[in-house]
Amino acid sequence: GKYRVVSTKSMPGTRWINLLIEQDCRLEICTEKKTILSVEDIIALIGDKCDGVIGQLTEDWGETLFAALSKAGGKAFSNMAVGYNNVDVNAANKYGVAVGNTPGVLTETTAELAASLSLAAARRIVEADGFMRAGLYDGWLPHLFVGNLLKGQTVGVIGAGRIGSAYARMMVEGFKMNLIYFDLYQSTRLEKFVTAYGQFLKANGEQPVTWKRASSMSEVLQEADVISLHPVLDKTTYHLINKESLATMKKEAILINCSRGPVVDEVALVEHLKQNPMFRVGLDVFEDEPYMKPGLGEMKNAIVVPHIASASKLEVTKYTFTRHQSNLELIKTLVSQISSLLQGKIKGYPVWHDPNRVDPFLN
Ligand code: GLV
Ligand code: GLV
Repeated sequence: GKYRVVSTKSMPGTRWINLLIEQDCRLEICTEKKTILSVEDIIALIGDKCDGVIGQLTEDWGETLFAALSKAGGKAFSNMAVGYNNVDVNAANKYGVAVGNTPGVLTETTAELAASLSLAAARRIVEADGFMRAGLYDGWLPHLFVGNLLKGQTVGVIGAGRIGSAYARMMVEGFKMNLIYFDLYQSTRLEKFVTAYGQFLKANGEQPVTWKRASSMSEVLQEADVISLHPVLDKTTYHLINKESLATMKKEAILINCSRGPVVDEVALVEHLKQNPMFRVGLDVFEDEPYMKPGLGEMKNAIVVPHIASASKLEVTKYTFTRHQSNLELIKTLVSQISSLLQGKIKGYPVWHDPNRVDPFLN
């Protein structure tokens, strides 16, 4: 292979390795046992000669690493994530390294996890499961684990990009929820979808669903019963949910975060959960992963899972994979991306707030 490509983690399956070889790449997979590599670990992996790196969201791809990669002749970096807050794109540009992330392939899997957490929180599934396993169930009672009925309630989406739109569609269509969303860009397709679905319901004698594009985030927080966060993490979205904004939400609201931990002030959230026992959260991401802020793990009104939104199996028949493997489409994207970046067939992105983006449904 002409290009030396380093992957800082091993990925499921073997097909991707062959794909890289077919693309004239020599692959080296890091065998380090620790879960999270330091900058020093990665510099050692890059070594004297390295053309491209497939890296992870847990790694700090800043000035130091891009300088090291560039010094080793590196031209490309692919982040195995749609979120790229761990990548300093300006530093990459400065050192002539093209950067890629993986938008598109993680849309449905992330939206499905957000929907799962929404339902689990609404119906208190985790709490009820614990009750059952603890042997506390001694007979059916009308008031046992009364939760929220989603039908007719309002789902609020903050950041209606690919993932936020897919989640909105699931909640509106699946549970007949009304939609309120906030995004810098108008999501015309989403609006059209809700309108059409509302007409369908009406024609069948049911209460139609409605949509509203909020003019501010606070409007969503005040009006929605279930709120799911789908923005990128940057300076403008850091601690978007804080003590003040939490106070404006409904006492029995449900908050879901499958974006990035620091979008929520987790200390303020723990306090809010303590003060408002009927307020519930479903979290896939945390401010200081892998840690939780003190108290969060003890809250009955919190559901916490370890950043698993992209961890789903896909049956991808259109590719030549023969078995079910986790993240196949994601890995295939990474592999073709790093080789195309190296061969100059594509330019680096990421693009996230692309006004011309195509919503992941109704295509
Ligand atoms: C996962 O968190 C991702 O951004 O892909
Ligand atoms: C409850 O189990 C019911 O039948 O309503």
